Amino acid sequence: MKLFIFKNNDTLYEYVSSVYIKKINENPNICLGLATGSTPIPLYNLLSKSYQKRLVDFSKVKTINLDEYLGLDENNSESYRYFMNENLFKKINISGSNTYLPLGTGNIDTNISFYNNLLANNSIDLLLLGLGSNGHIGFNEPNTSFNSTTHVVKLKKSTIKDNSRLFENIKLVPKKAITMGLKDIFNAKEIFLIANTKNKEKVIKKILEGKRRQKIPASILKNHPNTTIFINSNIALKLNLTGSKYSLIEENDSYEIFDVLK
Ligand code: F6R
Repeated sequence: MKLFIFKNNDTLYEYVSSVYIKKINENPNICLGLATGSTPIPLYNLLSKSYQKRLVDFSKVKTINLDEYLGLDENNSESYRYFMNENLFKKINISGSNTYLPLGTGNIDTNISFYNNLLANNSIDLLLLGLGSNGHIGFNEPNTSFNSTTHVVKLKKSTIKDNSRLFENIKLVPKKAITMGLKDIFNAKEIFLIANTKNKEKVIKKILEGKRRQKIPASILKNHPNTTIFINSNIALKLNLTGSKYSLIEENDSYEIFDVLK
């Protein structure tokens, strides 16, 4: 795994956004795996601005999101489909038929089969991940099998609490979700994970410095051939960067890059 440590979140998002623009320009048919939540919002804003300046064209881009709440449809302002429409898709020239999220309503078994087929027939070139404070990626909660494909999950209390900030009250947070599995995530050709808030501090240290184990779903990434983790200097203060796990590759005014050993 590579680790990028940015001085601040602004430079982090500007850098990540510039990588996205370069990759889309190089491969207009790119298949992007996308996340919801607070973490990707600044990136989606920067990408939307770049589109407005005609620096990037999304007309041939395909997107496959990680997850959706069970029971919420696209008209519900708390659904992840609504989030993606509002925060990105409506602001760029992507074709609606090229954007996929798991469906959280209707026949769930059919929806799961549909998503598994979608993932079998499309390889994700670059998958964006946020990180749960309990180590979840997508909605793969602790102790999910590393071999899992799309499935329904019962959300942990900590996740319901973390996500309740986006709802009027905690009772309105759905208790279940549909998510692509850890095997699906691992199959992405390249993965970017952004973890830049204080509540991710402890779990990032466990992922980078601890063992690969199902208790911390994101630790599956330790064996992935092309994963980059983006953090800021506040989070980095908690890491043992002078220890044998980390080897400095590059540093400049905005960031340091480390190779992280398994
Ligand atoms: C969202 C998702 C989740 C979030 C994670 C972090 O699609 O898959 O894993 O990335 O819960 O959420 P935020 O970014 O709100 O801290």
